[in-house]
Amino acid sequence: MNIIIKDIEHEVLQGMIIPVYEDQTHIIEQVELIKKGDVFSGKEGECLYYTTPEMKYMILVGLGKYEALKLEGLKNTIAKGAKKAKELKLKTYGVSVMDAAHICTGGICKAMVQALKLSIYSFDKYKAGEENKAYDPTVYLLNVPVEKVDKLEKRLEITNHIIEGVIEARNLVNEPANVIYPESLAERVQVLGTENGFEVEIFDETQIQDLGMKAFYEVGKGSARLPRLIVMRYMGDPTNETILGLVGKGLTFDTGGYSLKPAASMDTMKSDMAGAAAVIGTMCAVAKNKLKSNVVAVVAACENAISGISYKPGDIIGSMAGKTIEVLNTDAEGRLTLIDAVTYIIRKEKATSVVDVATLTGAALVALGTTTTAVISNDDAFYNELMEGAAKTGEKFWRLPAYDDYKKLIKSEIADLKNLGGRNAGTITAGLFIGEFVEDKPWLHLDIAGTSWAESSLNEYSGKGATGVPVTTLYNMIEKKKPCHH
Ligand code: BES
Ligand code: ZN
Ligand code: ZN
Repeated sequence: MNIIIKDIEHEVLQGMIIPVYEDQTHIIEQVELIKKGDVFSGKEGECLYYTTPEMKYMILVGLGKYEALKLEGLKNTIAKGAKKAKELKLKTYGVSVMDAAHICTGGICKAMVQALKLSIYSFDKYKAGEENKAYDPTVYLLNVPVEKVDKLEKRLEITNHIIEGVIEARNLVNEPANVIYPESLAERVQVLGTENGFEVEIFDETQIQDLGMKAFYEVGKGSARLPRLIVMRYMGDPTNETILGLVGKGLTFDTGGYSLKPAASMDTMKSDMAGAAAVIGTMCAVAKNKLKSNVVAVVAACENAISGISYKPGDIIGSMAGKTIEVLNTDAEGRLTLIDAVTYIIRKEKATSVVDVATLTGAALVALGTTTTAVISNDDAFYNELMEGAAKTGEKFWRLPAYDDYKKLIKSEIADLKNLGGRNAGTITAGLFIGEFVEDKPWLHLDIAGTSWAESSLNEYSGKGATGVPVTTLYNMIEKKKPCHH
């Protein structure tokens, strides 16, 4: 979708999306007449279209009350219109930019662009047939005050790059495990590094062992798809010594290993690299927008599969940090790969703070459902930075307690730690297991098991499948400068 800020002649357009407030008085005559009936009144969620004598499609979408409109409502409203336009196969249409009580013009345009682009996303490249050919319309943002156009065009470009990061993350997750496996993921990241402007280094299975990443290697060694350590570096502020470390769980498939998953729990496990996809998407957006920040991202990519040499329940394994681990369940593999990635990013890449993003526990779904990402942290200020970054997006996070009592649950009698904390507090014990390796660095653990994959759409602008969570929040956290509230 190509979005242009321009008051183009209406003859060129096949249609228009017109957002209408419930309490709006000055509207085009046609709309006023329609509002007098009882089919469309401008309430949030309403959508109605009609055709003009010139055969143009006018898509009316309800914004609700002027005073009550918030960013989320606006995004949902515009997304509804965009999906209608897609259904009507409009190739060129306009969206009239209105004003709002609590959102500036820049914020409105940004929200509109996000909603327009993300709502028409679908992963259908493997489907045959004309009707599934990529839908790629040209959309004009109309009625933008002339004096604002230049500034908004710059913001449009920045927003586009963020959205491309989200879409890259969604695509990587939606691709099946026979397409995206450690080696092919590494190759893809190499291409993305060149395209977006970050450095990429790949370590193969021998180099992973040479680095001493014993826990990571144990998880991946049973698969014919060999593990890869993927390192991405972006130094946008070389005089600054702080380096944010992003670690993404990169299980390109999780069968559970010998602690095998039942079939029904396994069928979405191509998405067990959604943490990796999120940090990769974030790196793309950060580098493309040339943010003044230093960010390093690490993905310990591997497949949790069964073979004669796969690791087994009861095994005692090592780790890069030197601690030993009793493996009580081979399906609790994510934390084993993550601890070595965390040790690596702190010791080798000199990260001064760490965010790990992982589809780590089914318990996160049980605790918080599919809307809210579970957070564990050792640092209040760092957690607040996350929440500030999230506030401007529709992404939701909630911190779970991390009292020392929980740490007893992951102590082993025969090794330093065990990879299973028992039935209770599964998301907390999994997070704290990783916390044992953060060496007192400010740290955030984001368990996206519930939020990275949607069985049904959560809102109007994210469909089924991969959501791209939490790329936008991470980006906002990294982009420290805040020109306005949106
Ligand atoms: N990848 C799964 C977690 C998961 C579950 C992600 C559902 C997305 C949706 C993880 O590796 C796993 O299997 N965790 C186990 C941990 C348990 C054995 C302690 C789980 O959640 O059951
Ligand atoms: Zn697992
Ligand atoms: Zn897993």
